[in-house]
Amino acid sequence: MTTSPLPLIIDCDPGIDDAVMLMIAFMSPKLDVRAITTVAGNVPLRLTSRNARMICERMGRSGVPVYAGCPRPMLRKPVTAEDFHGESGIEGIEIFAPKAPLAPGHGVGELIARLSAAAPASQTVILSGPMTNLAAALVMAPEIASKIGHLVVMAGGDRIGGNITPFAEFNVFADPHAAAIVFDAGIRTTVLSLDVTHTVRSEPERVASLRKIAGPEAEMMADLLAAGNRLEARWKNGQMAPMHDPSTVVYLLAPEIFEAKPCRVSVVTRPGAEFGRTKVKDTKRGPHHWVTSADADAFFAVIEDLLKARA
Ligand code: RIB
Ligand code: CA
Repeated sequence: MTTSPLPLIIDCDPGIDDAVMLMIAFMSPKLDVRAITTVAGNVPLRLTSRNARMICERMGRSGVPVYAGCPRPMLRKPVTAEDFHGESGIEGIEIFAPKAPLAPGHGVGELIARLSAAAPASQTVILSGPMTNLAAALVMAPEIASKIGHLVVMAGGDRIGGNITPFAEFNVFADPHAAAIVFDAGIRTTVLSLDVTHTVRSEPERVASLRKIAGPEAEMMADLLAAGNRLEARWKNGQMAPMHDPSTVVYLLAPEIFEAKPCRVSVVTRPGAEFGRTKVKDTKRGPHHWVTSADADAFFAVIEDLLKARA
């Protein structure tokens, strides 16, 4: 019996790895991306919103509505990450003006509208950037928390610590107050943190393997990953780029290749060296699950299988 595709809302800040994540989500018959909301993060909102629409168009999914959300974090001074994504935010592919305009309405309002209209615990939402949009939606309409059956976020670090400061991961550091609101909402949340993404990197042999696959999607993904590697290597002593945001979609597609533990995640919002740090307290039943490991070979096999099916 074939199950119907999982309806999905993705909030993101493309971003090279956000772009790869969107490609994977669009290629999978198991997922149905209903809407994309964009947030300021890796690059300013104008660019994350353009980049999301570019990926939709390149993947033949211009019908997926893209709603621009918050242009800045809730409280702190905005930070961006052009060093790792390029000035365009999507280094590795040629920039063009997407044909599809932004969908009318604000991303936060759209999250509230879609979640309010949904049945309890029926919605799956991915956050792959600063959590500003969902946090604002939760402040404006707290009841929407009960409509999210599964929240999957790329955020934080514990064993690994941080990637933008010694203690903080970028998505949380860019808006710690928003992350605190989201983690405090009691929503069943799976957290893909640096603890796991740093163990799954787009090593050159992985990229070379993608290039052997026919089709424009494989070439585009390889170009994005190669660009991400060049930027990561420049700032992180020659290391290759972790598969941060793609891990959220691969988790939904193949949870069995990951290990996770029940916990409660909190965020340090007081000023100081630990600003934006995530703290993980083990619990018996959640509400959060902290992913602790992934099978990297199986991870890339999921992606390659999707690309081969498009070849
Ligand atoms: O720390 C990695 C995260 O920050 C990823 O989501 C990347 O896109 C950046 O937003
Ligand atoms: Ca991101």
